[in-house]
Amino acid sequence: MFRNFWFSYKNILYRAILKKKYFTFLRKIFGTLFKFLRKFYLINFSPDIENLDKVEKNKFKNFNLDDLFINFNCDKGSYCVYDYEKKITHKYSVFYEKYLKKNKKKKLSVLELGSHEGKGIASFYFFFPNANFYGANINPFQMKYTSKRITELYVDVSCKEIVDNLANHINEDLDLIIDDASHNLKDILLALPILFRKLKQNGFYVIEDADQFKVYKELNPTNEKMTPIQILKNIKNNRKFSSKFLSKTDKDYLKKNIKNFYFEKGKSIVNGYNISDIVFLRKK
Ligand SMILES: C[S@@+](CC[C@H](N)C(=O)[O-])C[C@H]1O[C@@H](n2cnc3c(N)ncnc32)[C@H](O)[C@@H]1O
Repeated sequence: MFRNFWFSYKNILYRAILKKKYFTFLRKIFGTLFKFLRKFYLINFSPDIENLDKVEKNKFKNFNLDDLFINFNCDKGSYCVYDYEKKITHKYSVFYEKYLKKNKKKKLSVLELGSHEGKGIASFYFFFPNANFYGANINPFQMKYTSKRITELYVDVSCKEIVDNLANHINEDLDLIIDDASHNLKDILLALPILFRKLKQNGFYVIEDADQFKVYKELNPTNEKMTPIQILKNIKNNRKFSSKFLSKTDKDYLKKNIKNFYFEKGKSIVNGYNISDIVFLRKK
């Protein structure tokens, strides 16, 4: 626990230095330390934090993954309830079931980038009853679930040094990595080659919301023509392409090491566009 706290604390401060925000750095030395101490204290007492290890074992026995996402109000399922209103969401559950169901009982190691309040991780906790989870987020104080099987870490997926540090900190290879963090084009392409190297053989790297750029233009501020999906399709079809966010070494590495590419579309529609692109990449 201390090692994880120290990793997050150190990297939050390091990020401020990298951004040359020296006043923020000084403020965070004490502010972030205080928040961590408060969190460790509250974890056992706060009614807002649920210990999943204490949930009755059979409570979700007959739930499929979509039922679990709905139960935890996670937008990976077919709907969420916001302000008492039911809203159709991505329905990625069918694809997770399709590609991962056969590994359900295995002792998987899973990393989710962009763990937020932990609704996705809480759902997977019951879907994969023997898995261990790393939830990594830019704000490590949002998580609403705790468990011996969940480790929370800080990450900023827009910063190469921090993603490298995360990869080095997690001292095991992973079976499943889910990128549900910023959804920014550049960040998706930054994290992919670094963390794909952390996958075990036959492991899956999943990119959620991989092409929302027509609707959310701020996720592609430099107006890149080549989206992550187009890049991956080019890699799959062995076509030449150039992207300023992937080095030649990374391109070659991905070409050599991705065994299967599965491009899927969920159900969420915004301004007439389906924004639910999800990609499953399987490692050789
Ligand atoms: C869509 S939410 C994730 C939802 C969550 N995965 C779930 O299943 O409920 C995206 C999360 O990514 C985090 N995020 C945004 N930018 C980030 C960054 N640069 N690095 C890491 N996390 C980031 C946000 O704080 C937010 O918590």
